Amino acid sequence: MAEADTLQDKNPAAVVTGANRGLGLELCRQLLQRGWRVVALCRRTSDTLQELCAGPGAGSLAVVEGVDVGQDECEAATCRALAGVPVALLILNAGILSTDTLTELDTVVARQQARFEVNALGPLRVAHALLPNLATAAAAAAPARASGGGGRDSGGSSNVAGGAGMPPAAPPKVALITSKMGSIQLTQQGGKNGSVGYRLSKAAANMAAQLLAVELQPQGIPLVAIHPGAVATDMHAQYWAAVAAGGAAGTAGMAPSAHGPISVQDAAAGVLARLDELQLGSTGRFVQAATGEELPW
Ligand SMILES: NC(=O)c1ccc[n+]([C@@H]2O[C@H](COP(=O)([O-])OP(=O)(O)OC[C@H]3O[C@@H](n4cnc5c(N)ncnc54)[C@H](OP(=O)(O)O)[C@@H]3O)[C@@H](O)[C@H]2O)c1
Repeated sequence: MAEADTLQDKNPAAVVTGANRGLGLELCRQLLQRGWRVVALCRRTSDTLQELCAGPGAGSLAVVEGVDVGQDECEAATCRALAGVPVALLILNAGILSTDTLTELDTVVARQQARFEVNALGPLRVAHALLPNLATAAAAAAPARASGGGGRDSGGSSNVAGGAGMPPAAPPKVALITSKMGSIQLTQQGGKNGSVGYRLSKAAANMAAQLLAVELQPQGIPLVAIHPGAVATDMHAQYWAAVAAGGAAGTAGMAPSAHGPISVQDAAAGVLARLDELQLGSTGRFVQAATGEELPW
């Protein structure tokens, strides 16, 4: 069931984009388990998201369909649906892969633009649509911080417990799910040249993350850019299917991973662990979900 209009419940929420499958869906599941009230943004709901709506904690889950982060219209739709709802946690997760080569780059301009729209501009659209909602949550946390109740000034509690268990002083936090494939340094070190549109758009997403971190920092809102790892989702399967089909993912460094993908459960747990430890003093970092290891841009 999708929420078509403004959400009635005005309690602080965790918002996840690309929430109908893959990592986004699992993040919703784990946030509900942590006691969060969750708003799942997606283009279209899915059977698995609907099952989550019927499971334990379902009353705390709202699904908002029609949020295509690659379209400017998603800003108005997001603003409308979440009007007046404080957003204490925002996970910008939606993304699309490409398995194109450099030689294909010039001939698939429309698809490159689509990747850029979704992976690079999408997070900015949703974050900007929800700036007032993040600011409301930040303002609610500010008095408690000023009185020593936690947050950036005291270095105190700011974990992602959420919902009823969330400390009232916790400032809002933002995560942008990006990829090591967007790292210029790691692309050079790995000698890789495939998934060109994905790499280009995720490099731009990394810059978007840094720009957002700078924008949000004065409001007391930290942001972390996270590489979730190679995760066993549709996207991972799409990548290796393209490799198996003849190197559509590039011409260099195409050996299969020695370790295989991690589970979506482990990846989501890693993302939430990185959000747990995020503080304003560490805003603007690019990290590996599982370990928190800092990655080069
Ligand atoms: N899986 C990996 O190994 C891996 C590695 C590094 C980084 N990542 C990143 O992790 C994030 C999640 O990926 P995943 O593995 O969960 O991929 P996935 O299984 O392919 O799921 C992608 C999600 O993004 C949504 N999405 C795609 N285009 C959208 C659009 N225009 N508007 C709104 N939502 C859109 C999809 O919704 P629809 O059903 O509507 O398409 C889906 O919910 C992505 O940002 C990805 O780049 C994944």
